[in-house]
Amino acid sequence: MVTRLNPITEFREDHRKVRDALLALSQAALDRDIAQARDVLGLIDSMVGPHFRYEEETLYPAMKEFLGDYVDSLLAEHDTAIDTARTAARLLAQPSLSEEDGKAVASAARALLVHVSNCDGLNILAERFSPQKLDDLGERFARSRAEGVPLLRWANTIRKRAQAS
Ligand SMILES: [Fe+2]
Repeated sequence: MVTRLNPITEFREDHRKVRDALLALSQAALDRDIAQARDVLGLIDSMVGPHFRYEEETLYPAMKEFLGDYVDSLLAEHDTAIDTARTAARLLAQPSLSEEDGKAVASAARALLVHVSNCDGLNILAERFSPQKLDDLGERFARSRAEGVPLLRWANTIRKRAQAS
């Protein structure tokens, strides 16, 4: 069994790291430094995979306690964020980055940055979960991190199956 973590502080810590990485991605894309942009996108992919998975498998269902059906729109926001990440990955798979494509990657990074900012607001609600619920969330968050499936791989495999079932 994995050691459980504090789901509120770790959730925010993820957002801080992803925020900084997205700002770095945006800058690298505008500089048309494709090697740096690819490195940073890879880092984002590996950090965000377990985070999104935890949100969809555990946090969002728990959030129904406070948000009811609004949770469905959080899932729709994830669909958009995943598409945006796919677009950035596709553009960065090219041998080099045109000025136009650099701007497109920077704009994708900004769109994801808004998502990070919105997502962090869920913490103000998470503080109202019972201590038992928080323990459960902490254990599941730790498990998702331990499994460590990157975002696009998760979206193309595990998440797809979860949607189909
Ligand atoms: Fe989040």
